[in-house]
Amino acid sequence: MRSWKVISVLIAVAIVSVIFLSGVIGKPYEPVQPIAFDHWLHTSKQPDPNQSDTDPAPQLKCEDCHEHADKSRYATIPNVSKCMQCHETMKTDRPEVQKLAAIAARSEQPAWARVYWIDKSADVFFTHKPHIRAGVDCAVCHGPVDQMHRVRREVDHSMGWCIECHRQKKVSVDCSICHR
Ligand code: HEC
Ligand code: HEC
Ligand code: HEC
Ligand code: HEC
Ligand code: HEC
Repeated sequence: MRSWKVISVLIAVAIVSVIFLSGVIGKPYEPVQPIAFDHWLHTSKQPDPNQSDTDPAPQLKCEDCHEHADKSRYATIPNVSKCMQCHETMKTDRPEVQKLAAIAARSEQPAWARVYWIDKSADVFFTHKPHIRAGVDCAVCHGPVDQMHRVRREVDHSMGWCIECHRQKKVSVDCSICHR
């Protein structure tokens, strides 16, 4: 009798851990950021016609903040001074905006956690500029960031993934263009 109880408890524990682990393993990487910056709010939120809001929905373009994507290797994360152009006066009652203002007042930058990177050890040369100039949309390589409240890694930047698109678009797949 007792051994049956022990076995059924063990089975229950096993089932619960499998469910738990599949939830964790299946989820894309989504680091918590030092300020709860919301991409959807800044790029896609529509103005609410019924609300008498003095701060309109920003409806910014990706390039308004990631200014260097079409000019250089890095898209770059904007400086807090960019945020403070608006938040000096907008939504100053929100706790997350107050955290932001405190960081800016100390002339520091938020320690944003990286979402995408290529391991240094793989010795890969990647540059945004030719991709943006060739009209490859940000979403192809980063997923629907404009709909995200917190950025998560939805696209797996593997070598096979790079090469598949280069083949499709008749771009070189010579080892030396990516491994210099
Ligand atoms: C108001 C400025 C702003 C706008 C507009 C903006 N971003 Fe961002 N973006 C940020 C900031 C700040 C971070 C760093 C914090 C974070 O990851 O949320 C970031 C992070 C990212 C990252 C993750 C970078 C990494 O760590 O690997 C991607 C990808 C990204 N943005 C893509 C986009 C795309 C695509 C758009 C347009 C749909 C866009 N962003 C519009 C400010 C902005
Ligand atoms: C062809 C695929 C591709 C496209 C298109 C692309 N990215 Fe990226 N992005 C990457 C890869 C790969 C990385 C990681 C690079 C690394 O580790 O050096 C990255 C990194 C980033 C980062 C963090 C590092 C940095 O460069 O500042 C940001 C922010 C970013 N991308 C934003 C954007 C935005 C905004 C767009 C559209 C304007 C865009 N990306 C278009 C592939 C792409
Ligand atoms: C063009 C003006 C503008 C810029 C630039 C801007 N924001 Fe905002 N931000 C707004 C507005 C407007 C809202 C409120 C939107 C709403 O609630 O509908 C907002 C909301 C916020 C909130 C509050 C969310 C909440 O409700 O608690 C945070 C945090 C924030 N922004 C951070 C940032 C950061 C970080 C940057 C720079 C990377 C930035 N903003 C750049 C206009 C801007
Ligand atoms: C969705 C399609 C797509 C993906 C994914 C993609 N690329 Fe590209 N890549 C292109 C296009 C299009 C060009 C531009 C060719 C041109 O300028 O005519 C390009 C150009 C390049 C160049 C410049 C080539 C030169 O002639 O100097 C490099 C380097 C490069 N890609 C590396 C990468 C790496 C590394 C990855 C993966 C992390 C990647 N690409 C993923 C489409 C893609
Ligand atoms: C279009 C870009 C591209 C081309 C072309 C390319 N690679 Fe890669 N390669 C990558 C990327 C991106 C990674 C890193 C993938 C990751 O971190 O998952 C990588 C990783 C590797 C690694 C693993 C390195 C490590 O330490 O993880 C080797 C080995 C490699 N490539 C060899 C080659 C060879 C050999 C060729 C030519 C036949 C080639 N690559 C062509 C983009 C490319």
